[in-house]
Amino acid sequence: ANNSGTTATKREGWSSRTAFALAAIGAAVGLGNLWRFPAEAGENGGGAFVLFYILCVLLIGLPVLLSETLIGRHGQASAPESVRRLAIESGASKHWDIFASIGVFAAFLILSFYCVVGGWVLYYVGVFINDLFHTGVMGGAFQGRPAEDIESLLPGLFGDGQLMVGLQLLFLGITVYFVARGVSKGIEWVATWMMPAFFVLLILITVYGFATGAASETVDYLFTFDFSKLTPQVMLAAVGQAFFSLSLGVAGMITYGAYAGRDVNLGKTSGIIASADTAVALIAGLCIFPIVFAAGLSASAGPGLIFQSLPVAFQNMPIGSLVGVAFFVMVAFAALTSSVSLLEVPTSWMMERFDISRVTSVLIVGMGAAVLGSLAAFSFNDMADFRPLALIPLFAEANFFDALDGVTSKLFMPIGALLTCIFVGWVADPKLIDRENGLDGALHKLWRFLVRYLCPAALIGIMVSGLSA
Ligand code: PHE
Repeated sequence: ANNSGTTATKREGWSSRTAFALAAIGAAVGLGNLWRFPAEAGENGGGAFVLFYILCVLLIGLPVLLSETLIGRHGQASAPESVRRLAIESGASKHWDIFASIGVFAAFLILSFYCVVGGWVLYYVGVFINDLFHTGVMGGAFQGRPAEDIESLLPGLFGDGQLMVGLQLLFLGITVYFVARGVSKGIEWVATWMMPAFFVLLILITVYGFATGAASETVDYLFTFDFSKLTPQVMLAAVGQAFFSLSLGVAGMITYGAYAGRDVNLGKTSGIIASADTAVALIAGLCIFPIVFAAGLSASAGPGLIFQSLPVAFQNMPIGSLVGVAFFVMVAFAALTSSVSLLEVPTSWMMERFDISRVTSVLIVGMGAAVLGSLAAFSFNDMADFRPLALIPLFAEANFFDALDGVTSKLFMPIGALLTCIFVGWVADPKLIDRENGLDGALHKLWRFLVRYLCPAALIGIMVSGLSA
């Protein structure tokens, strides 16, 4: 069950269908689900955001996910090359590959700030391990200390540019190591070990949080739909979150699809990936908010939610240090399976484009990400006043870090997805597409309708209203 297996090329591939599914779920499930989703939901009013997000996943995310994986599997090459092959075989301009090239660049940008947050996660793993060891029996040295002691850890970290850069480089270094090992020995290995461990930890912590925390308040908060809260900005934030979480619009799923064998049913697998990803986001909400509410903390703490509010809550729990270690190890696993996918996108493109080895390619991309990531890390301290996009109203206030996040999730991803839909829905030869999608009957009709009409229209509408509002 390797690659397409018919040609003599030695292109790498997943070792099995399950490996592909796990790797793709690993790419999708990450900081987007555990850190960004709760923060976005909290800042955008809870239930209205959550419901609209789920709609976006079903009606836009899932069709785009299938479109991306099928472009990759058809092309069996890096993302831009895969698009070019499908375009040429469909008798269209080879320049369609531009959207995949933009995606490769966007993946690189995301990787840069993603590793900064990955660094924070490593920091908290360290904090809680330290706490665990200092007290011997799980009580935690934090226990009984004022909340400010714990809350001040994050500003403390943010104030220390060098520490942040060091942690970011550590996280990036681990990512580089696994991607350098290759598709099946590195990326797949990480996913097949870490994703199952991740799921076990997630279930344990959620059951714990639900049993001991403010469960009903959380359910009300996440699932009460208040129509008046659904503003264009909330909608844009929800689409952006759906894309970010499913790793769409940045050529990531094209890249992973290109390592999938012919025996994979892409329609079915896309459904599994999207369901798993959305389930994890919702479970993360159900895991985090009960703990936060029970501690009397605010839901709209934004990015600080899992790094400040949650640790305060851990501090008040009977076995808080242990829960803290488990939680942040879990987040680190999820983040790593996503960062390897982000790094693989530009890496596979460079290998092919310049005919260089995987190791060389990975090191070059890694160095670029180290530089950009360091700027993102410094935007919390030494470069806090730098506004890279001061001229663009929507991002005028953003520092370097927020600019990377904002531009990729609100512009690159929706635009990448829009072009993917137009390409797959209108440009590519349906005969070639239908060999790949694994759908038939009504489901196939529905998918085509969504890709051709609903997704482009919705994306344009949401982008125009969200960006101009
Ligand atoms: N989906 C990942 C997450 O939720 C982030 C990501 C985006 C990964 C784009 C790859 C490509 O954390």
